[in-house]
Formats: sequence, C-alpha cells, structure tokens
Amino acid sequence: MKLRNNNVIVFGGGSGIGEAIAKRFCKENAKVLIVGRTEEKLLQAKAEINSDNLFVKAFDITKVDEHISLFEYAEKTMGRVDAFVNSAAIGGAQTFGRGYEPWDITSEEWDKFTDINFKSAFFLMRNEVDYLLSKSVRGNILNIASNAACMDIIGAYGASKQAIIKWTRAFGKRFGHHGIIINGIAPGATLTPMIANYAKDVNQKYERHAIERFIRPDEIAELAFYLMSDFGEIVCGHTVVADGGDNLATL
Ligand SMILES: NC(=O)c1ccc[n+]([C@@H]2O[C@H](COP(=O)([O-])OP(=O)(O)OC[C@H]3O[C@@H](n4cnc5c(N)ncnc54)[C@H](OP(=O)(O)O)[C@@H]3O)[C@@H](O)[C@H]2O)c1
Repeated sequence: MKLRNNNVIVFGGGSGIGEAIAKRFCKENAKVLIVGRTEEKLLQAKAEINSDNLFVKAFDITKVDEHISLFEYAEKTMGRVDAFVNSAAIGGAQTFGRGYEPWDITSEEWDKFTDINFKSAFFLMRNEVDYLLSKSVRGNILNIASNAACMDIIGAYGASKQAIIKWTRAFGKRFGHHGIIINGIAPGATLTPMIANYAKDVNQKYERHAIERFIRPDEIAELAFYLMSDFGEIVCGHTVVADGGDNLATL
C-alpha cells in the first residue's frame, strides 16, 4: 500500500490526531506541511517527528479568504500540493468547560465554535477542491469528523461533525468524477490534548467503548494511511467510524 498523493497539508497537525497522521505520512516519505494557530506547538511537533520532509506554518483556518494564499505558500515550500487532511477543530464541553446541554452555550461561544468547526470546515474543503481543480490535480482530501455525529447530542459539536460527514459525501460523490478522492474518519474518544481532562492513557479502562480503552492517535493515523492510499479510492465520499464500539453512538 502506498499513498495516492505525497504532498500533504495537515490542518491541526501540531497535536493529537493531525500530528500522528503527519508523522505516519512522513514515514511514507511524503512531504507534509503542518498548520495550526500556535507556532510553538508546531515546532514541538516538528522536533518530535524529526523529518526533513516536515514543514510548519502558523495559520488560523477562520481566515477563509486566505486559504488559497496558504495553499500557494505550501506549493512554494513543498513544490506541489496534492492532498489535504482537515483535522483542525475545537472541542465541545472541553473547550467551554461545561456540558453539551442547550442552555449551557452562550451566543458568543456558539459563534466562536461554529466559525472554526462549521464555517471554516466548509470553506476549507470547498477551497481545497477549487485549488485541486484549478491545477488539474487528482488529489485527496481527508476530513476528521467525530462519532459525536452519531450521537443524540444537543449542541454545536455533534451537529458540526454531522455536517462534515454530509459534505464529505456530497463533495466526494461529485468530485470523485474529477479524480479527487474525499473521505472521512469519525473517531471515538482518542488520547489527544482535546480530551486530556478525562483520557489519560491507553491502560485506563473506558467502558463506553466495547474495546474498553481509549483509541491511540497512531491507530487513527493507520486508517488515514489506508483512506489516503491508492486502495482508499474505493471508499470515495464516506466517513469511516473508528470508535471502538462506543455504546452511545448509532448510525
Ligand atoms: N480526541 C478525540 O477524542 C476526538 C474524537 C473525535 C473527533 N476528534 C476530532 O479530531 C480532530 C483532531 O482533534 P484532536 O483530538 O487531535 O485534538 P487537538 O490535539 O486539540 O488537535 C486539534 C488541532 O487543531 C488546531 N486548531 C484548532 N483551531 C484551529 C484554527 N482555527 N486554525 C488552525 N488550527 C486550529 C489546534 O492547534 P492550535 O490550537 O494551535 O490552533 C490543534 O493542533 C478534531 O477535528 C476533533 O474534533 C477528536
């Protein structure tokens, strides 16, 4: 199995699932640009991954009018851009320190949350497709959704992830005809900074998952490798749920 494309921008690549995917792809000798808002995080990830093929750029995905300039910067840095991983997002309860209940979220928090997880997620995918079409590149896009999309959660997080699954399908079916393969992953609880307040390590029992443990980011990265490989093309437009049998999630 080999990557279908080898010049990848990983949004949210400074930590967690995005960082693990960047590391996995560097192991395949891909060139990878990791993007996030915090430069120190990106530099720390670069030091950990320790590859000459890894590049970093601080950028906020809410600057939707600057997406194409960022892709052009990446093109200059890596020589070409033919694949994208969209892993940048903020968490729900973790970010706001409260629950998922409808009365918990303020209208300012809703705007901040939906600006990143919903509006920017749409424009990022739309602009990535635009860029690939303009270059006639048969590229790849991988979206990180969440199994929260499969739960009866009242609030913004699950709804934003459900939207990503819908867009993955709609964009995927339309632009697969142009050779652009768009797929998604909906992880369950994965050991990353996003859920570090309750997920500490892989030996910790987590009974909500049938496998009774948390998922490791490198396990999600292995699935990302499959979906972004030449074999992953047959999935086209779908989101694979990888949640260890979470008993709260139904499709
Ligand atoms: N961990 C889980 O249990 C879990 C489960 C299901 C789905 N997911 C999804 O998996 C993806 C990765 O999350 P993670 O768990 O790996 O958490 P994470 O370590 O917090 O990663 C999220 C990354 O996104 C970046 N980011 C956030 N807002 C951004 C913005 N406006 N512009 C650019 N970058 C931004 C963050 O860096 P900066 O703060 O420096 O910008 C961070 O590196 C997310 O989409 C998340 O919703 C996670």
